[in-house]
Amino acid sequence: MRILGIETSCDETSAAVVEETGDSAAPWQVRSNVIASQAPIHREWGGVVPELASRQHVRDICGVVDLALQQGRTLWRDLGAVAVTQGPGLVGSLLVGVSFAKAAAAAAGLPLVAVHHLAGHIESLVLQNGELPLPAVVLVVSGGHTSLYLLERPGDYRLLSRTRDDAAGEAYDKVAKLLGLGYPGGPIVDRLAAAGNDRALRLPATRLTHRDRNAPDLKGDLDFSFSGLKTAILRHVRAREAALSEREIVDICATFQRVVVEALINRLFDAARRFGAKSVGVAGGVSANSRLRADLQDHGRRREIPTFLPSLTLSTDNAAMIAAAGLRKLRAGLTAGADLNADPALTL
Ligand code: KG4
Ligand code: ZN
Repeated sequence: MRILGIETSCDETSAAVVEETGDSAAPWQVRSNVIASQAPIHREWGGVVPELASRQHVRDICGVVDLALQQGRTLWRDLGAVAVTQGPGLVGSLLVGVSFAKAAAAAAGLPLVAVHHLAGHIESLVLQNGELPLPAVVLVVSGGHTSLYLLERPGDYRLLSRTRDDAAGEAYDKVAKLLGLGYPGGPIVDRLAAAGNDRALRLPATRLTHRDRNAPDLKGDLDFSFSGLKTAILRHVRAREAALSEREIVDICATFQRVVVEALINRLFDAARRFGAKSVGVAGGVSANSRLRADLQDHGRRREIPTFLPSLTLSTDNAAMIAAAGLRKLRAGLTAGADLNADPALTL
């Protein structure tokens, strides 16, 4: 069976056709995954402008879906369902995908599946690597989220911890902005960091020990915090009278990246040990980071625990991961009605 996936939660309009393989160890295969990025539009403003994003989704959605069907050599009648990101994300952007998916499912007489964006990121790991050895601990790290999930059964995601303030990707983007490096900042900082000294300055590494009053169900000691780090860099830059030299910029990038990646890796493997995980994974836009990828594999080898990553295309926002998570939900009998609405604060 083939499913059409649609993703419009932020600034990428994406549609994909994903097919079931019949192999329970590697259940899905990507037939097409079309991504229209709006980055050039938002770059001018230094970040995503929600109203511009939703308008561009409206312009792009029909063409992107047509292309995904064409590249996947799939006709509407070959499809078994339509899956769409319901949330979280920008409400105007989400509404474009949800409205399109509802109309398409109704017109083609197909079941509709509502997908949580982070379930999509988690299932990108299975789409890439096949089913993970369970229990697994997965870090979802993107521009909007930094959260650890425990997977005990396929399709069952238990939140273990999250960031108390900025997401890691957001911290990358903000640090890049204050260094005048452009948008989106993550890939630029990643590239510059490779040439820098990662111990050039002293930066704070936050370790939380207390429960978050806003999330009393979580223990809190696996939570993340990146806003102090960003402020420390802001202070460092402001304290300088002259403009930063190229050498100083690459050193700041390298040191910032080391502190962020160490925090992510340490919490991930702490959680894996605490919950007896048989595997660990990292998904979401920041999983494209070269140091995070290398350090993950290195730690996994040393601790003798298998590690999983999506390909670079499946790391950042894309509809193939939404299609995969949609197939998982469809097989569990979870479909949505015609009253489905976008939910910008949807929880998993
Ligand atoms: O998952 P994603 O495409 O969108 C959200 O759901 O947020 O993630 C985008 C985020 C941005 O903050 C971007 O700067 C970051 O992922 N990112 C990176 C890298 N590539 C993308 N951060 C660090 N290193 C990278 N190579
Ligand atoms: Zn995302």
